[in-house]
Amino acid sequence: MKVCRTVQELREATRVWRGKGESLGFVPTMGCLHRGHLSLVERSRRENDKTVVSIFVNPLQFGPKEDFSVYPRTEEEDRRVLEQGGADLLFLPRVEEIYPPGFQTYCEVTQLTKPLCGLTREGHFRGVTTVVLKLFNIVSPQRAYFGQKDAQQAIVLTRMVEDLALNINLRVCPILREQDGLALSSRNRYLSREEREQAPGLSRALGRAESLFLEGERGARVLRDAVREELGRLPLFTPEYVELVDLGTLLPVERVESKALLLLAGRLGRTRLIDNIVLGGTYVDLGTQE
Ligand code: PAJ
Repeated sequence: MKVCRTVQELREATRVWRGKGESLGFVPTMGCLHRGHLSLVERSRRENDKTVVSIFVNPLQFGPKEDFSVYPRTEEEDRRVLEQGGADLLFLPRVEEIYPPGFQTYCEVTQLTKPLCGLTREGHFRGVTTVVLKLFNIVSPQRAYFGQKDAQQAIVLTRMVEDLALNINLRVCPILREQDGLALSSRNRYLSREEREQAPGLSRALGRAESLFLEGERGARVLRDAVREELGRLPLFTPEYVELVDLGTLLPVERVESKALLLLAGRLGRTRLIDNIVLGGTYVDLGTQE
């Protein structure tokens, strides 16, 4: 696996592949890699000749009170994992490589970023779209892979690709979970033993709503209340939102017509966790199809 730290190095390495007509898949990450990230790498390897992974803890998407400075950085281990996972190139830029002095150009999706995580994480999605657009311009992949875990992010980025006519196919992959249902996340390592014991309650709460949905329940209030009730059993969890929204607009629905996205966010102790499920559909509904 080749490792590049500058835009120039990366462009030179990928030019050779492109020259041979090889297709490029891209998996952007912030590192501290787990099986969820690796599932994106595996999918990219199946669908492309070469796979590029980036690890960049993007300061622009962290708020002033968020965990940028303590976000786990496990470069050595990540390199080993990617080598084994069969990635062809790892892009590991320094902050100044992506945001050189004088940087002042941003990319913003204006509406889909307002609800849900946008309510409490001001500027977060602007940081995500700006860095992903820049990484897309550097790597120039045919396909890029994202997880349903960050459903709003996937929907926002799909909109960006569409609105700016980027020639990239954005693919969304399912959420990988621990045996007990907890969605894999780099932030899970912040959890204390007690918090970790309560953490499966999040997916269990979504599972309750899914059971009701499968039994025929379509009312948003009933479905949301079922989730809230289950979350109420977790003494260390403080919910931020539980919402049932339209997959296209991310605005609340009153009833599930054919499909809808059920999402939750909150704090388990001090750690912010998110999870979601598509009722009446799958992760495929969040991305673009070829
Ligand atoms: P990060 O949190 O490292 O996640 C990188 C990718 O892995 C995202 O597309 C995310 O949705 C996916 N992912 C995370 N946990 C997953 C799981 N349990 N199952 C499947 N996929 C999972 O998301 C980011 O980084 C950043 O915002 C980024 C897009 C890299 C821009 O900085």
